[in-house]
Amino acid sequence: MTQKNPLIQTLQELETEALDAIRAALDGEALEVLRVSYLGRKGRVSGILRGLGDLSADERPPVGAEANRVKEVLQEALEARETEVSASREEIGAPAEDLTLPARHRWSGGVHPVNQVIDEIWTIFQSMGFVRARGPEADTEWYNFLALNTPLDHPAVDEQDTFYLKDFVLLRSHTSPVQVRTMEKHEPPIRILAPGMVYRRDSYDATHTPAFAQIEGLVVDEGITFVDFKATLAEFARRFWGPGTKVRFRPSFFPFTEPSAEVDVKRMITMKDGTRVESDWIEIMGAGMVDPNVLENVGYDPEHYTGFAFGMGPARIALLKYGVPDLRMFFQNDVRFLSQFTSQSLSQLTDRDAP
Ligand code: DAH
Repeated sequence: MTQKNPLIQTLQELETEALDAIRAALDGEALEVLRVSYLGRKGRVSGILRGLGDLSADERPPVGAEANRVKEVLQEALEARETEVSASREEIGAPAEDLTLPARHRWSGGVHPVNQVIDEIWTIFQSMGFVRARGPEADTEWYNFLALNTPLDHPAVDEQDTFYLKDFVLLRSHTSPVQVRTMEKHEPPIRILAPGMVYRRDSYDATHTPAFAQIEGLVVDEGITFVDFKATLAEFARRFWGPGTKVRFRPSFFPFTEPSAEVDVKRMITMKDGTRVESDWIEIMGAGMVDPNVLENVGYDPEHYTGFAFGMGPARIALLKYGVPDLRMFFQNDVRFLSQFTSQSLSQLTDRDAP
């Protein structure tokens, strides 16, 4: 009987030792270390295979065959154990991280551009001592029209441009009812800012939407004059659009203010080549001194108190501020458009993140 080649003995010992180690390995990393030390280029099984050339012609085949067998057994054992450890890791809830994957950008939302403008406007008025107020979006004719000195035969009451829910109750067509509700509840001094949604049967086009945000403002106290009115709104416009902004009060009419004005601004705009030019006059709000009838309707003495009010549309202001050509873009929820207004732009996102 030919004596068994000592290398075969060695290979079998290696096999037993390696199989024990593989069974004891707890994670992919440990398995990789084992793979390298037995089957890697400088590994122990590979070393024997490489040495085959030094053996005699009749030693070579049995040792080679045995080395290849052990190599296959170990490869299979490593694979099987790998599957086991990753499965058990999932079982205990730990993520089977693949540390070689590039990091993924986090998809975080942002504040809608119209709400950003509302926040900016709010910050300016807040610094001037205004407090926030709110009212219901479905309101009665009393608050939406009558208390605001608007008779029910006024064109604004027409069912054609108002959403009535039932008799006397409608979706508010402006935020002005918050003026009335606030004055009913509180005595002067009043200094409120009331952003909120309003509803009209408007068309849906580049400059109109049937549901839109408004920001109402109201100041009532002893001795409030037209000077306070003009100065407050001019100060707001300059803080919002910059110190070079011109402000114009154009005579107008609203049932709940007397006198009434439309406030226009002329902004300084920077062109692409850096030159600064004046914009056209653009209307930013309706406003005026609170009509004494409104004060009377809420039980204030108009001989004692005076005030001013204003109402503006933040979406239109956002349109101007960002140079957006069509109001509808604000409401289509297109992330490619909206993400331009967040600190994280879409170009930073991977395909996987973009919905
Ligand atoms: N409520 C008016 C509208 O929706 C806007 C407005 C005008 C509000 C004048 C006011 C104001 O408070 O004084 O068209």
